[in-house]
Amino acid sequence: MYRNMNGSTHVLSAAEIAVPAIPEDERVWVPQAEGVWFRPLMLNTLAGQWCNLLRVRRSGVLSRHLHPNPVHGYVIKGRWHYLEHDWVAETGSYVFEPPGEIHTLVVPEECPEMITFFNITGSMIYLDSDDRHTGYEDVFSKIDMCREHYESVGLGADYLDRFIR
Ligand SMILES: [Fe+2]
Repeated sequence: MYRNMNGSTHVLSAAEIAVPAIPEDERVWVPQAEGVWFRPLMLNTLAGQWCNLLRVRRSGVLSRHLHPNPVHGYVIKGRWHYLEHDWVAETGSYVFEPPGEIHTLVVPEECPEMITFFNITGSMIYLDSDDRHTGYEDVFSKIDMCREHYESVGLGADYLDRFIR
C-alpha cells in the first residue's frame, strides 16, 4: 500500500527491493563463464528487463554482442572498454550503450577484478567475429541460470523469487 501526497492510497503491484548490491554470501554470484559471474538484482518479467552486477576476474575479450534495446551501466570497481571505442569505463563511470550497436567487451590485463552494474532491456545477442549469432540471453534465460545455480549451492531455487517482478 502506498499513500501519495494528496492522501489517497494505491495498491502497488510490486514490492520494493533494498539489499546490499555486493553480497556477503559468495554463493549469490552466479557463474557465467570461466572467471565471470553475475549477481541478479531485479529480474523484470513484464518488461523483459534485468539489472545485475557483472564481476570479471580475468582479462581479455569477454564477449562480442549486440542488444536491440539500450543498456545502462555503472562501474563499481575496476575498468573495461569496448574494442570499437576509444574510451575506458573506469570505477565510477556511467556508460550508455545505444540500441543496435555491436561491441566487444575487453578487461585489461592490469585489472584483477571489475564489477559493473548493468540495466539491460530485451536481450543480449552474442556474435562471432563474422557477426554470426552464437547465442542469446534474456530475463528468462537469466532466471533459469540463477535457479539452477541456487539449487546446486544449497540456497534453493526459490531464493531467486525475491528478485523477480
Ligand atoms: Fe553491450
